[in-house]
Formats: sequence, structure tokens, C-alpha cells
Amino acid sequence: MDKTEVLPKLREDFRMQNKSVFILGASGETGRVLLKEILEQSLFSKVTLIGRRKLTFHEEAYKNVSQEVVDFEKLDDYVSAFQGHDVGFCCLGTTRNKAGAEGFVRVDRDYVLKSAELAKAGGCKHFNLLSSVGADKSSNFLCLQIKGEVEARVEELKFDRYSVFRPAVLLCDRQEFRPGEWLLIKFFGSLPKSWASGYSVSVETVVRAMLNNAVRPSSEKMELLDNTAIHNLGKADSSL
Ligand SMILES: NC(=O)c1ccc[n+]([C@@H]2O[C@H](COP(=O)([O-])OP(=O)(O)OC[C@H]3O[C@@H](n4cnc5c(N)ncnc54)[C@H](OP(=O)(O)O)[C@@H]3O)[C@@H](O)[C@H]2O)c1
Repeated sequence: MDKTEVLPKLREDFRMQNKSVFILGASGETGRVLLKEILEQSLFSKVTLIGRRKLTFHEEAYKNVSQEVVDFEKLDDYVSAFQGHDVGFCCLGTTRNKAGAEGFVRVDRDYVLKSAELAKAGGCKHFNLLSSVGADKSSNFLCLQIKGEVEARVEELKFDRYSVFRPAVLLCDRQEFRPGEWLLIKFFGSLPKSWASGYSVSVETVVRAMLNNAVRPSSEKMELLDNTAIHNLGKADSSL
């Protein structure tokens, strides 16, 4: 089979399995693109968003999307929201600037970990975590330390398959204004593409990498995809 035919075939095989999926963080920059792409590719028989607020969609393509609105401070009261999903994508996150150090830890570690625990208990087989370049549980930087810690603690849950994505700076047209990130994005935009891709990646590429990875069978229990792997797997014409 020609290499370029592999991906469509994998997608087709995946569709035939009628899997269900949940997305945490579907209102965010990455989660929103992920949801759109999942619907465009018709990869799953059921799509559920789990979030702190109900999202409004006007397009026809979104009409069968289910939504579970939960209070992340009381996730044990929402066990049923996490039941019966084959695959889960976690794109939750906040920043220290926005939520303070304590708030950041609460969202990026505690909410993520508790959600993963409930998903595992609810039958999820493949958990996908959007983490960050530099994640390292022994880092001196809080953000990287928390990302590393949550990666490791989710691994302990022993999903059948666990995929961790560690992108560099996410390139997107962010709705919320984050001056530091805006400057970085402008800076990367001014660099030759081959340099910039070492330090950044578009959310579209991240999303394609997540989905191209999800549709390919894997015998690995844990997969760690760094920024380069994300670029390779997320190329529009990726032949895997
Ligand atoms: N920005 C970067 O350059 C970069 C680089 C590498 C990795 N990452 C990581 O990639 C992930 C996704 O980033 P992103 O920029 O796509 O995210 P984003 O646009 O900031 O969206 C974050 C999502 O998390 C939800 N969320 C935030 N605080 C919450 C809270 N207190 N309770 C419940 N839900 C909450 C948001 O819901 P609401 O819409 O309701 O607020 C939203 O759905 C994050 O983990 C981030 O750390 C980012």
C-alpha cells in the first residue's frame, strides 16, 4: 500500500469500531480545534464534552455533541459524566498569571488527575494528555514541575494506552489576551519556519498529531510525543 494511503485506511478502520470520546477543555484554544477536527473526521460514534460550563454551537455538525457540566471542585459527584467513554482527551489548563500558583496547581494537577481517575474507573481505555515541553517533576519551575507530576501520576493509573503530548509554545489566535504569549508568537512568526518549529507548534498541528496517533494501533502502554514528534505526526499529509 502506498504510504499516503495509510492514514485514510487507519481512520476508516477506526470509525468502524464505533468508539466514544470525551474532551476536557473543549472551550480552550486546543480543545476547540480538537472538537472541530473530531467532528470533521467523524471518528467517533459519540462525542461528549466535560466542562464547567455549557457551550453554545450553531453549526449543524455539532448537533449530536453531548455536554456534561461539572463542578471540578466536587468531581466525585459527577462520576456518571466519566462513564462509558473509550477514549479521552484532556486539554484542560490555566496559567499562573491567571489563577495564581494555587489555582494553577488545582486545575493543571488536581482537576486533571481526578478526571483521569474517574475516566479510568468509567472504562476509558486510551487517555490523551496535553502537557508541555519541559514537563519534569523535579523541575524548579512550578509550571513544569506540576506538568511532570501530573504526567507521572496519570501514568500510575495504568490506562491500556496513555499518550502524552509535550508541545512547545502553542501558536493560535488566542481569544484571551496574554501579552507574554502574544509577543512570543509574533517573535516566532518573524523567524524562518524551520527555526520557529523547534520552539513552537500550531494548535492545528497538535490536534492532527493527537488524532493521527489515536487512530493508529499501538502496543505501547505509554507514548511520549515531544514537539518534534508532534510536528512529524501532525503534518497535514502525514503518512505516519
Ligand atoms: N499556551 C502555550 O503556549 C502552551 C504550550 C504548551 C502546553 N500548553 C498546555 O496545553 C494545554 C491547553 O492549552 P490551551 O492554550 O489550549 O488552553 P486554554 O485555551 O487556556 O483553555 C483551557 C481550558 O481549560 C479550562 N479551564 C481553565 N481553568 C479552569 C477551571 N478553573 N475550571 C475548569 N476548567 C478550566 C478552560 O475552560 P473555560 O473556557 O471555561 O475557562 C478551557 O476549556 C494546557 O494544559 C497548557 O498548559 C500550553
